[in-house]
Amino acid sequence: MSSHAWEKKPVLLLILATVTILVGTIFTMVLPFAWVNTEHDRIETVSPYSPLEQAGRDLYIREGCNNCHTQTVRPLVAEVLRYGDYSKSGEFIYDRPHLWGSRRTGPDLARLGGKYPDEWHYQHMVAPTSMIPKSNMPAYGFLNDNLIDPDAVKKAMDVLGFPYSSNDIAQLEGKTEMDAMVAYLQKLGTGIPWRKAAEVEIIGELVNPFPKEPTAIAAGELLYAENCAACHGEELEGQIGPELDQDVYSDDELFELIYVGVTDAGMPSFASLGSTKVWQIVNFINYRETP
Ligand code: HEC
Ligand code: HEC
Repeated sequence: MSSHAWEKKPVLLLILATVTILVGTIFTMVLPFAWVNTEHDRIETVSPYSPLEQAGRDLYIREGCNNCHTQTVRPLVAEVLRYGDYSKSGEFIYDRPHLWGSRRTGPDLARLGGKYPDEWHYQHMVAPTSMIPKSNMPAYGFLNDNLIDPDAVKKAMDVLGFPYSSNDIAQLEGKTEMDAMVAYLQKLGTGIPWRKAAEVEIIGELVNPFPKEPTAIAAGELLYAENCAACHGEELEGQIGPELDQDVYSDDELFELIYVGVTDAGMPSFASLGSTKVWQIVNFINYRETP
């Protein structure tokens, strides 16, 4: 092994090491911090929080939600598929302090807005297991018992320099902490119109691979209970989402509805289940025995 001369010169080595680390620091820390909140990465469609949303944000901090939830989608395929479009720095321009977090006991919430209807959130916050049977998230039903204080919210808006009207403040009268929390959750990640653009596309012809097969119907029944019952009711009678009748949709229409979702109306995409499971659910809905 030949050794390099510079390895034996501690001062030179120190300087070279410092320069190397500095280059990394400049690209990963200094430049992003210099750019954040400047014209450079301002996004037209990103707007400040409304008074109700800001009140919800303060509650999110008070309750320590960010001990279990992050609010940033990293530009990695697996994350984008799971959560939605990756986060852009310009989206955090009104986040003071930012709530990126570092621990995901629960899922990332950066793209949550519009994923579920408001009613889903009201019920999930009161009893997480009513929506996600295996959830270990704590319940926050007490937020329903507390009213928010319009004066305090007004002061927060002034400190932050966010725009509001006296009418906005007047409308806070009678709103609960729960209303504020749900308003905040529905705002998350909606600064850019990513949802339509990210919609799954189905390519090719759709053919039910197990038409009316009893095993597929039985498998579909279990999948329905796990994934759909919270919104459409245990007996498909409708709850947060509409009642699901038999024979309203053809098999392929139903497949598409479930696989793609109705992403601007609170019906999530179930592409992540994979097409076999979605077909099993289709068979359950269209061919189950009805009394
Ligand atoms: C002890 C950890 C923990 C805390 C604290 C916590 N959560 Fe959760 N949260 C979870 C877990 C686990 C899930 C996944 C299961 C579920 O949906 O209930 C979850 C799911 C969620 C979801 C559904 C996300 C999705 O995309 O399906 C929302 C919304 C949410 N939490 C909001 C909150 C809010 C708001 C707070 C603070 C008031 C909070 N959480 C506090 C653990 C936590
Ligand atoms: C978070 C709540 C939620 C979950 C979970 C959910 N849905 Fe929906 N679903 C909705 C809402 C809301 C609508 C109405 C969308 C609209 O207004 O177009 C809907 C619409 C539908 C429709 C169209 C019904 C119609 O009459 O227009 C079908 C079919 C459907 N869902 C099936 C399912 C299936 C199957 C599952 C489980 C794999 C599921 N949904 C899970 C909320 C949900």
